[in-house]
Amino acid sequence: MKDLTGKTAFVTGGASGIGLETARALAKRGARPILADIEGARAEAAAAELRAEGADAIGLQLNVAEEADWARAGDAAAKFGDVRILFSNAGVGGGSGKFEDYDTEVWRWAYAVNAHAHLYACRTFLGAMKAAEEPCHLALTSSMVAIVPPPISVAYISSKFATLGIAMALRNELADTQVGISVLCPGMSATNIVATTAKLRPGVGEQGAAAQTAQNMSGVLAGGMSAAKIGERVARAIEADEFFIFTHPEWKAMTEVQFAEILGAFGESADPGYRGDDIDGLIAANGAKRMNVAVGK
Ligand SMILES: NC(=O)c1ccc[n+]([C@@H]2O[C@H](COP(=O)([O-])OP(=O)(O)OC[C@H]3O[C@@H](n4cnc5c(N)ncnc54)[C@H](O)[C@@H]3O)[C@@H](O)[C@H]2O)c1
Repeated sequence: MKDLTGKTAFVTGGASGIGLETARALAKRGARPILADIEGARAEAAAAELRAEGADAIGLQLNVAEEADWARAGDAAAKFGDVRILFSNAGVGGGSGKFEDYDTEVWRWAYAVNAHAHLYACRTFLGAMKAAEEPCHLALTSSMVAIVPPPISVAYISSKFATLGIAMALRNELADTQVGISVLCPGMSATNIVATTAKLRPGVGEQGAAAQTAQNMSGVLAGGMSAAKIGERVARAIEADEFFIFTHPEWKAMTEVQFAEILGAFGESADPGYRGDDIDGLIAANGAKRMNVAVGK
């Protein structure tokens, strides 16, 4: 999308952090942000802040994890404009502690917000974006931890892997459309995510070592990259139609180690007599022209 002027941009988690700063960067390029957030008053206050800077913006309350909420948000958005940029970004930490002790309610909540919500977002807006006779863009927020998982929350990491998987699979589906797609994979960013997570988390708050881990993470994130820089980078990636948005190049060395391990694990076929899967046929059947590049054609 080379020109963002006048394009309505629906941003989830838009009241704070990376969502708000991306909305601000899009607005600087002439886009019209809709800041959607579970914290409706904060979304409206953030939109007022953008309007004071000259943007045409509104805020609205939306719990991305509640499919029923999306119909209301879709109607409110339609009154403001036809959504041409969708940034499905809202996310929460998954809580920590031993996997076998995970609270299943917290697990479901983390997946609902971090992964399932992308489906609801696309059910609300993607059909019309595909049908629009103009370039559109969908961006999803995953994380660097979906490429290189550090020893933190299994719920958070795996739900961010799900987001990466959704983006990679959808990329094939959108290959022949005017809808560009990006997946944002940031490293540490100084946002409110630890406090937001503590506030929104279902059930009792984290206790003992898990509470300490959250506290430590808060300290680590406080020194992280500014969300404003990440927001600018996302806006540039949307303009340039880039798929992977990597904001923290210091993770590249770990990524190389991770992929070297994966590539190194390939060995002899489990059945040396087997002719091998028809990779070319699979690619052709899925119409994913882009994959031809990936397999070195
Ligand atoms: N901060 C980081 O270091 C970091 C790193 C990698 C990825 N991310 C991802 O970036 C995204 C944005 O997070 P952030 O760091 O800007 O945090 P943030 O807490 O500052 O902003 C997230 C916003 O999402 C909203 N939100 C949470 N649950 C919601 C729900 N159910 N429905 C609607 N809105 C909801 C919150 O109210 C908040 O305003 C998340 O997906 C997060 O996982 C963050």
